[in-house]
Amino acid sequence: MHTQNLSSGQARVAADILKNGGLVAIPTETVYGLAANAFDAAAISRIFTAKGRPSDNPLIVHIADFDDIFSLVSHFPKSAVRLAEAFWPGPLTMILPKSEKVPRDVSAGLPTVAVRFPAHPVAQEVIRLAGVPLAAPSANLSGSPSPTTFAHVINDLDGKIDAAIDGGACEVGLESTVVTLSTRTPRLLRPGAVTAEQIKKVIGEIAVDPAVFHRLDDSKKPSSPGMKYKHYAPRAKVVLIKSDRENFAKFVNAKSSPKVVALCYDEDLQLLTANTMPYGKEADPAEQAKMLFDALRKIDMNPKFELVYARCPGTEGVGMAVYNRLIRAAGFEVMELE
Ligand code: TXA
Ligand code: MG
Repeated sequence: MHTQNLSSGQARVAADILKNGGLVAIPTETVYGLAANAFDAAAISRIFTAKGRPSDNPLIVHIADFDDIFSLVSHFPKSAVRLAEAFWPGPLTMILPKSEKVPRDVSAGLPTVAVRFPAHPVAQEVIRLAGVPLAAPSANLSGSPSPTTFAHVINDLDGKIDAAIDGGACEVGLESTVVTLSTRTPRLLRPGAVTAEQIKKVIGEIAVDPAVFHRLDDSKKPSSPGMKYKHYAPRAKVVLIKSDRENFAKFVNAKSSPKVVALCYDEDLQLLTANTMPYGKEADPAEQAKMLFDALRKIDMNPKFELVYARCPGTEGVGMAVYNRLIRAAGFEVMELE
């Protein structure tokens, strides 16, 4: 298949492809999404094939008008209205009981559906012109980091999808916050740029799913199927290092070799003599979020790197999302230095 490269001014071309059952990668404020008509079961099945995605991992449906949600969900609790008022359009996904109209494969057989109203103007325009909600997982091959630039999308999916729109680098850089409202207490399933603290202020309470911080026991059924997959793991082994700057630098410098790279904060660079891949300033988790996946992909592109020592972020605010992606990349291995 030939993949058409589209500019952000070509939303209409993208919408026509989508109306005809095609697949188009679109920019959103979080990461690029691989979109298809959410009501077209055949198009949905092509998403799973193009990504190599396990069929038991459900998709997020994207809308560009609040009222579109009524065709997707069967029940809309007050807490969902409050969250939508506070954070939509934006990087928040809500899980709600699904309507009959949503094809089975979109929600991988679950009784719920994930819905998001993205803030990105190009994503909104494509959804509106297509005239239907768009199911869109991240536009990467299953198992690689989510794409935050057009080049990442093309690298993973060229020749496998009908078109991709170049919208530049994504503002947030990590996938949306996922909250389920289908449990008695709303529950955070995936941290993102909308933080647990912010959600708590709006709806009063939120539980954090254990899978956000810990490896899931094989015997336990995950609340969100995506959490059981080994995610964002580069080819090289990643070890998270909990430490201050001086001890981190001392430790990594002692291990320095062509095979070793430090995934570090900008301020660490001056102390490091080993190979480095910076991912933002220490005090700026939003910048770390924006840079992390690109840094992981760059590490993957260097065939020499076999071992990554990563500076461990804090878990406050957006830091929780950065930490959540990094501990998965590290297979939950964290090393604490004195
Ligand atoms: O920021 C984002 O959310 C991006 C952009 C494109 O919108 N999309 C994205 O989709 O990250 P994806 O498919 O890569 O991640 C969706 C996550 C998966 O972990 C999936 O298991 C979970 O949401 N999910 C989807 N529907 C669900 C449901 N009904 N119940 C529980 N988890 C669900
Ligand atoms: Mg994904």
